Amino acid sequence: MTDWEFRYRHHDTPWEKGSAAPPLLELMERWNAAPPWGGGEVLAPGCGFGHDVRVIASTGVPVLGLDLAAAAVEGARGFPSVGQERYLQADLFDRSWWPAKGFTGWWEHTCFCAIDPVDRPRYAEAAGALVRPGGWLCGVFFLTPNERGEESCGPPFDSTIGEIEGLLAPWFERVDAWVPTRSYPGREGREWVAIFRRKQD
Ligand SMILES: C[S@@+](CC[C@H](N)C(=O)[O-])C[C@H]1O[C@@H](n2cnc3c(N)ncnc32)[C@H](O)[C@@H]1O
Repeated sequence: MTDWEFRYRHHDTPWEKGSAAPPLLELMERWNAAPPWGGGEVLAPGCGFGHDVRVIASTGVPVLGLDLAAAAVEGARGFPSVGQERYLQADLFDRSWWPAKGFTGWWEHTCFCAIDPVDRPRYAEAAGALVRPGGWLCGVFFLTPNERGEESCGPPFDSTIGEIEGLLAPWFERVDAWVPTRSYPGREGREWVAIFRRKQD
C-alpha cells in the first residue's frame, strides 16, 4: 500500500505539475467557464496541492479539496485563497466525514488511477453516495499512466473507459466525453474527459 504522506514529505511526487490540469481548463472553456457543477459544493478527491480546486473556486464555485496525505493538504492550504475553497485531510472511503447533504459536483483528476483497482468499486460507491441525485461527476481519467510494456505494481494503475463506465453505471449516466486536446506534456492522447450525471434514486 502506498504511503502518500511519505511520498509528499520526500518530494517523490511526479504527478505534481505546479498548475491545474489542462483538460480541466479545456472543460471550463467548453462549458463557457460554467461546467456543470450543480450549483452547490464540488468535491475534488485526491486533490494534492489543490491547483484544480483553486481554478474551480476562482469561478465562484465552493470546492472541498480532499486528500489522505496531511502534507498534501498542508501544501494546498499554503496557497493564497481564491474563493470558497477549503481542504480536508481524510480518506475518501471513510464514511465518518461524509456530509449527509453530499455534493452537487465531483472533480476527478489522478485520484482514480492512484487507487488500487480492488478499491475501485469503493470509489464508485463513494461517488454514488456523495453526489446528490441530479448532480455531476466530471473528470479527466488518466487511462494509461504506465509506459507501454512497463511492468507496474502501481500506483498509478491503468484503466479502461469500459471499466470506468461499468463501475459508475449503477449511479451515473454518461452525458459527454472526449479525448482532451490539452494535456500536461507526456499525457497527450492518454487521458479521457467524461461528464456523468447522477441518476435519481
Ligand atoms: C497521483 S496523486 C494526484 C494528486 C492531484 N490530483 C494532482 O494531480 O496533483 C493521488 C492523490 O490521491 C491521494 N489519495 C490516495 N488515496 C486516497 C484516498 N483513499 N482518499 C483521499 N485521497 C487519496 C494521495 O494522497 C495523492 O495526493
